[in-house]
Amino acid sequence: MADSRKVNILGIESSCDETSVSILINEEVKANLISSQHFHKAYGGVVPELSSRAHLQMIKPLVESALQTADKNLEDIDLITATAGPGLIGALLVGLTFAKGLSYSLNKPFVAVNHIEGHIFSGFIMEKKPEFPMLVLVVSGGHTLLLYVESFTKIYLLGTTVDDAAGEAFDKVSKLLGFGYPGGPQIEASALKGNEKSIKFPVAELKDEYNFSFSGLKTSVLRFVQKNFPEGNIPENDLNNISASFQKALVEALVKKVNLALSNYRVKSLSLVGGVAANKRLRNEFSNLAEKVKIPCIIPSLEYCGDNAAMIALRGFQLYQTGITDSLSVMPYPAIPENHYLRIQ
Ligand code: KG4
Ligand code: ZN
Repeated sequence: MADSRKVNILGIESSCDETSVSILINEEVKANLISSQHFHKAYGGVVPELSSRAHLQMIKPLVESALQTADKNLEDIDLITATAGPGLIGALLVGLTFAKGLSYSLNKPFVAVNHIEGHIFSGFIMEKKPEFPMLVLVVSGGHTLLLYVESFTKIYLLGTTVDDAAGEAFDKVSKLLGFGYPGGPQIEASALKGNEKSIKFPVAELKDEYNFSFSGLKTSVLRFVQKNFPEGNIPENDLNNISASFQKALVEALVKKVNLALSNYRVKSLSLVGGVAANKRLRNEFSNLAEKVKIPCIIPSLEYCGDNAAMIALRGFQLYQTGITDSLSVMPYPAIPENHYLRIQ
């Protein structure tokens, strides 16, 4: 169990196309270095093998730079944390193995972190901390999860996507509009110049209260493009209108479920996290939602929305404080293990 003194934490994240290393002193971020693998753009998505190789090249120099930025030596580190999953198995192996090696050689405790939990609690990086119980929407490239979070170890899953994740929908629509990968920032930039009321894209209504579905929305954008621009050349003005109308439909679908959850659950804060939380249209809607029910809305600053090691180090620290550490035999996992959220209640 951790004592009350300051804990120097090293965090490593390598689940997808960002190698990130962070140093925290308790909850305070001293360094958060992120190396993004932009070369995947040429392939229209992340190429797992190339991702692993790039992580291998970056991990050591990033650890060295992070220590330098935080003005620390390896010997100052009290706790080592790394993402164990979900993610690309080869990519995860690089960061996890490096972290386990450090833990072994320095003889310091190790915590294996679930990447999604890193996102869920990333609001705690901000100066204004969320309060429990809180409602959290995780929107990333791989996940769309609505959660009721009672404490650092009691997380209840209310709903998830039955098909594409929100970020995946942004990426797929971006690809079909010819913007490329990652799609979110490019759709957002294009949407700013368009009229979001110009096209009405339908979003599937699901019977399950809190579940989401985005593949129908993506298909309706595809049909619209095929019908109206059969030659494939979409004028810029139309591209902007499609982006804006798609973004509006997706944001409204997310907001609708969160609104419903807010009326059924009494919570003290609302938090929006994950890569798609960088979207300004969505951030504004969330702030409005929270304002309506008079609770604080915590959305991490942009640096902590996308994948970053600070949220991994922080989550590792939260678990460490509850007495949890992991053995060095822990293995990476590509998908969330069955009943994971129940396991930690
Ligand atoms: O959390 P994240 O960095 O990685 C995963 O764990 O998946 O999320 C990446 C996703 C991508 O799908 C990307 O297109 C989306 O976040 N994204 C955005 C924006 N910035 C990134 N989506 C909408 N608007 C943005 N500004
Ligand atoms: Zn992520």
